Formats: sequence, C-alpha cells, structure tokens
Amino acid sequence: MAAPRAGRVVVRLQGVHKGFETENGRIEALRGIDLEVRAGEIYGVIGVSGAGKSTLVRCVNRLERPDAGRVEVDGVDLTSLEGAELRRMRQRIGMVFQHFNLLRSRTVAGNVALPLEIAGRPRAEIRQRVQELLEWVGLADRWASYPSELSGGQKQRVGIARALANRPRLLLCDEPTSALDPETTASVLDLLKRVRDEMGVTILIITHQMSVVRAICDRVAVVEAGRVVEEGPTSEVLVRPQSEAARRLLGRSGPRRQPLPDRTPPPPGQEARLVELHFVGETAKEPVITHLVRRFPVMANILSGQIDRLGGTPFGVLLVELTGKPGDLERALTYLREVGVIIQEWHEEVEER
Ligand SMILES: Nc1ncnc2c1ncn2[C@@H]1O[C@H](COP(=O)(O)OP(=O)(O)OP(=O)(O)O)[C@@H](O)[C@H]1O
Ligand SMILES: [Mg+2]
Repeated sequence: MAAPRAGRVVVRLQGVHKGFETENGRIEALRGIDLEVRAGEIYGVIGVSGAGKSTLVRCVNRLERPDAGRVEVDGVDLTSLEGAELRRMRQRIGMVFQHFNLLRSRTVAGNVALPLEIAGRPRAEIRQRVQELLEWVGLADRWASYPSELSGGQKQRVGIARALANRPRLLLCDEPTSALDPETTASVLDLLKRVRDEMGVTILIITHQMSVVRAICDRVAVVEAGRVVEEGPTSEVLVRPQSEAARRLLGRSGPRRQPLPDRTPPPPGQEARLVELHFVGETAKEPVITHLVRRFPVMANILSGQIDRLGGTPFGVLLVELTGKPGDLERALTYLREVGVIIQEWHEEVEER
C-alpha cells in the first residue's frame, strides 16, 4: 500500500451540516462532518445506505450547499463561491457516478469530449485529448460506440475518462463499482489506482463495501447517521475497528457464530486461548508462529487463516489456539505484540444448559 502521504490538504470539511426538509419533517443528513484528504491519497468514505455519503460528496463539489460549516478544496472555501468562480472550481474536480451518467445520444468520444466542449476548448485539442484518454482507459477502439453497446465496466471507464478530461487534481467517486460484478470491480479499482499513481490525482471514494476500501484506500472515514464515527489508515481500521459501525461493515460484530473445529481439552495445569492474530506488512512475511513455538513452551494450533493484500502489502489473519501454562501463554502473547502482531482474543459463548 502506498504509505499515507503527508501531502498538503486538498479537501477539508469542518463542521459540515446539511439537512433536507421532507414531507415527514426535516432529515439531518450531515451532522457536523470533519475530515481532511491529502494530496495523492485515495481516501475512502464508507457507511451503510442513508449514512449521508452521497450528501457529503455532493457538498464537496457544491451540488449541495451545506447549512453550516466549511468545505475547502485546495484551500478555497466553496461554500461562499458563486457563478463563474464556482464553475471554474468545479472544472478542477472530476466526478464519477455509480450509474455512469453517460449521455445515451452521444458516442463514447462524444461523452468524453463533453466537459471539454463546456470549457470551450478548441476542437483540435478536444480531439487529441479524447483520443489520449480513451487509449489510457483501454477503449481507443470503441470511440464510435454508443453507451448502450458497452458493458458496465466499459461504461465506467468512459465515465472515468470523462471525469479526467479537464485534468482535475481531485476525483470524487460515488459508489463507482456498486453496479459492477466483482471481476469488473477489480479492474475499475485498478484503473482508479492508476489515476492516482500515474496522474497524481487525489481521489475521494464513497462506498458501502469494505472490500473496496481494502483494495485501494490509504485512509478511510466511517460515516454513520451523518457523523464520522471512525477515521484512520485503512490497515488500522480493518485490523482494530473502534466503532460498532466499522465492525458491522467488516462483518465482525456481535458474538462469534462460526462453528469452531473440535479441539482437545488442554492437559492439567495448562489452558487454551483462542486468538485472532493480524499481521500487517513485514510481520506477515515472517514465520512468526514458527519462532513462537521454538521460543516458548506453547503449542499453536492454526484453526483458520487467510493472507490478503492491501494494495501491495500482505495482510494476514490467523485464528490460532495457543495451549500452555498461563504464564508461558502471557509471555508468548507479549512476544507476538512486540513483533507487531495485533491480537484479538476470542471468547467463546458458553451455552447455558
Ligand atoms: N434531496 C434530498 N431530499 C430529502 N432527503 C434527502 C435528500 N438527499 C438525501 N436525503 C436524505 O439524507 C439521508 C442521507 O442520504 P445520502 O444519499 O447522503 O445517503 P448515502 O449514504 O449516500 O446512502 P446510499 O448508500 O443509499 O446511497 C437519507 O436519509 C436521505 O433520504
Ligand atoms: Mg449514496
């Protein structure tokens, strides 16, 4: 994973409130949002349906005007901008939508050209830029096709090319892969990663899927009922979610329901502890468990395991039963913490009879 960069702040939200009057009364969609996205980051905002994610992103390009608070992009407060100034600012912000929002009556090339036409660019420049962008997203041969002739993934590639037409420094993506199957999702996320890596564009991506965050986000904010309830580097939020909302999105909330394999009871004088070990980065590559059982008189029974990748960083979770004398187990767990393993202990539910 690209290390979260200490770049300058590109997007800053401070105390942003936004409500809507509806037939059933007022809905507070955003209740004081604070967040900062830094240059070159892929920043995720995750939350369940209705959490306020779209409203948040619509405040960043001023499709919505916040009721209170500040929204800064590149240090400019958007809440006070109007007219030509606002349009100029918006041209520096690209937007990618869940349902692509392509014009059906225009070809692929015509769709990508649209923002350049609106910006009044000369024809020759538009032609060249469109071709360059379509090559870049791998659709050079489809320039004359209409959206109805494309797959979902291809439509989103056109959407991304269009969003990049005016060379924005910031790309806002609202659920860009939610209408796509898993394989297409992966290729579109790869493309977004290239947008950041090769063009240096900062990306703010809205999603309700932790898998999207895991795949490409450097940092993530968890939004619930219009508030940021948790924020931090992706690896930390995935490994040590602090909020119930994050745990739910990770599918880790509530008592453990997975059946565990049958295990033999520990010998007299010993105890068995069930621990979930999270390995991030370098620790994932080291044979930590092998070291552990050589150094301490404990047994390690690996019950399940999974090694994933977070960007380029290996990221592993092992469910291990450690058996040994209580003092030895404590020392073994201390050793694991010292080498950077993050430990979550499992406590089995005891059925009342
Ligand atoms: N224009 C609007 N008028 C009235 N209520 C709105 C409007 N836009 C959003 N809301 C309400 O604000 C709340 C937050 O909506 P928002 O669309 O931001 O959520 P979301 O997190 O994007 O959800 P989803 O995942 O379903 O897209 C919801 O209760 C929604 O009904
Ligand atoms: Mg939404």
